[in-house]
Amino acid sequence: MQPEQITIAQALKQAIKQLSDIPDTIPRLEAEILLSSLLDKPRTYLMAWPEKELTLEQLDSFQAMIERRATHEPIAYITGCREFWSLNLEVTPDTLIPRPETEILVEMALEHIPKNKSMNIADLGTGSGAIAAAIASERPRCNIVATDFSPDTLRVAQRNFRRLGLGNIKTSLGEWCHALPPEELFDIIISNPPYVAEGDGHLAHDGLPWEPQRALRSGDDGLDDISRIILDVPDHMASGGWLFLEHGFDQGDRVKSLMNKAGFTAIHTSLDLSGHDRVTTGRKQ
Ligand SMILES: C[S@@+](CC[C@H](N)C(=O)[O-])C[C@H]1O[C@@H](n2cnc3c(N)ncnc32)[C@H](O)[C@@H]1O
Repeated sequence: MQPEQITIAQALKQAIKQLSDIPDTIPRLEAEILLSSLLDKPRTYLMAWPEKELTLEQLDSFQAMIERRATHEPIAYITGCREFWSLNLEVTPDTLIPRPETEILVEMALEHIPKNKSMNIADLGTGSGAIAAAIASERPRCNIVATDFSPDTLRVAQRNFRRLGLGNIKTSLGEWCHALPPEELFDIIISNPPYVAEGDGHLAHDGLPWEPQRALRSGDDGLDDISRIILDVPDHMASGGWLFLEHGFDQGDRVKSLMNKAGFTAIHTSLDLSGHDRVTTGRKQ
C-alpha cells in the first residue's frame, strides 16, 4: 500500500507537536526554519502553500532534522548555515556558530577603517570567517589575513570567502601570531578568541557541547588565549595600529589590565546590547 502523502501544514503540525515536549525549543519557529531550509524556500512559502504535498524523501529528511533538534543540536548545524552581518555563512561542527554580539566587534573595527584607505587587517581565529568576511565586504580596498589553527575550520572559512566572492582575504594556518606573515605589519588586528574558563557551567548549556571545544575553552580563568595574543601582537602591528578583542562579560577589567601591561594606550571596553563588557580596544604606540 502506498504511504499517505503529507502536506506542508500537516508536517509542520506533527513537528511542532514533537518539539513541544522538548524543553528550550521554540517549536513553531524552529519547525518552520528547518522545513524552509530543507525546501530552500523562505518561511513565507510555508504559509502561502500549506496544502502542498511533501515527497517521501522530503518528509524523511524533515523528520531526521526534527529528531536532531530534539537532541538540542543547534539549528545552525542542522541547516548548515547562519547569517552574520547579513552574509549567509556555511557553518559546520568544525566552526563556532557566529554570535550576534560579535557584530559589535566588527562595528568597532569599522569605525577605525576609513572607507577609502587600504589597510592591513588580521582576523585571528577566524572560525567560519565571519569577522573577516564582514570587514572585507564593507572595506574591499583592505587586505585581510584570516587565520585559524584548525585545518578543518580554515577550510570552511575558505569556502565562505570563495562563495561570497571576497577576493581580498588570504587565509593562513597556525597558532595565533605564528600564522601571520613575519614581514607584514598590521594596522588592525581583530580576534574573538576562546575565552570560557574550564569548569564554567555555561559549557553544558545553550548548545555549547555541540560546538568545537577548542573554540570555547581557554584555561582556568578563560584568559590563556587572550593573554597570549596581547603579548604577541605588538610585534606584528604598525605603530598607531589598533587591537580589538572580544571577551567574556566579566573579563573587561582583566583584559584592560593585560593591554596596559603590554604597553597599549587609549584602552577602552565597550558593552554589548545586554550592557555587559564585551570588546576591549587598545592602540599600539
Ligand atoms: C570563539 S571562536 C571564533 C570564531 C570566529 N572568529 C567567530 O567570531 O565566529 C575561536 C576560534 O579560534 C580558533 N583557535 C583556538 N585556539 C587557537 C590557537 N591557539 N591559534 C589559532 N586559532 C585558534 C578556533 O579554532 C576558533 O575557530
